[in-house]
Amino acid sequence: MNTNQNTVFSGIQPTSEMHFGNYFGAVKNWVAMQDKYNCIYSVVDYHAMTMPYNPKELQNKTMNMVIDLLACGIDPEKSILFIQSLVPEHVELCWILSCFCSYGELQRMTQFKDKSESDQMQEKGNIVSAGLFIYPVLQAADILVYKAGLVPVGKDQEQHLELSRNIAIRFNNKHGEYFREPKALFTEIPKLMSLADSTKKMSKSLGDQHCVRLFEEEASIRKKVKTAVTDIGPKSDTMSPGVANLFELLKACDKIEIYQSLLNDYNAGTLKYVSLKENVANALVELSKKFSARKAEILSNPKAIEEQVHAMSGKARSIAKETIREVRELVGLPRY
Ligand code: TRP
Repeated sequence: MNTNQNTVFSGIQPTSEMHFGNYFGAVKNWVAMQDKYNCIYSVVDYHAMTMPYNPKELQNKTMNMVIDLLACGIDPEKSILFIQSLVPEHVELCWILSCFCSYGELQRMTQFKDKSESDQMQEKGNIVSAGLFIYPVLQAADILVYKAGLVPVGKDQEQHLELSRNIAIRFNNKHGEYFREPKALFTEIPKLMSLADSTKKMSKSLGDQHCVRLFEEEASIRKKVKTAVTDIGPKSDTMSPGVANLFELLKACDKIEIYQSLLNDYNAGTLKYVSLKENVANALVELSKKFSARKAEILSNPKAIEEQVHAMSGKARSIAKETIREVRELVGLPRY
């Protein structure tokens, strides 16, 4: 695999089971990019250590995330999908890059501020770790170690990407043009809201009723859609957030014709919300079934999947090792 402008890198944290918010927000796009670029995708378990977590769960969640990504269509024939901690070179580069990043820059990271002030941090025994502070440097290392030119991320990662670029520029100023300055690729991401509360983003942390899991049972998906909030308060001229969210979901499922036709009904004042909901539920169930079938197939041979992940991580590692070899030379560390 060539590492060049067309190398795409992105990472996802090993959270609990994937939900449609994650899928439409990131993974769907990752899958689509595979046909156009050399893609390298990582489940970033080192990053997951920066917030309080359970070590026993981390291993499982990491492997589950790999499996879910494969089930969603990340294709080992086209892309590299690997586990971050199986390529420890990320950490070595993180250390080196941390010497090209100022304390002040890291202090200005809004995600650091948000996380360090979160409720979780107030709980006894939890600390705001140095790891959380240098989280963005590790992210820069993830990207730069593969000399990736494009990084598909959500808008919330804009500041981290800007920092990655600044680190690359500072390194290059000192050691000559070496790293490529990575560009964020903000794709059109549907803003999916919770079905139970359309003023909040669809997110696992709000509780299970606020998101639809990718591998949820059909009856449960249908129930969540059926009970989704539509109109609250008196009817107004603008579409209520709940109804808009259901339309957004239909579009995200690529049901464009149905979307158009129901939107025409809405504009004509003839739309029945039951019908909108039924179409949304059908679309989600259809996707869920497709992914579940693939997941079952993957899980039928756990040994093979484990081997495949290690093989892909080995591929990533050989690229990362080459970068580290060159970087060590540039910064004055001995060859090894
Ligand atoms: N910080 C990213 C997020 O929370 C995850 C991530 C880690 C990442 N390393 C990355 C994303 C490198 C893009 C590139 O979404």
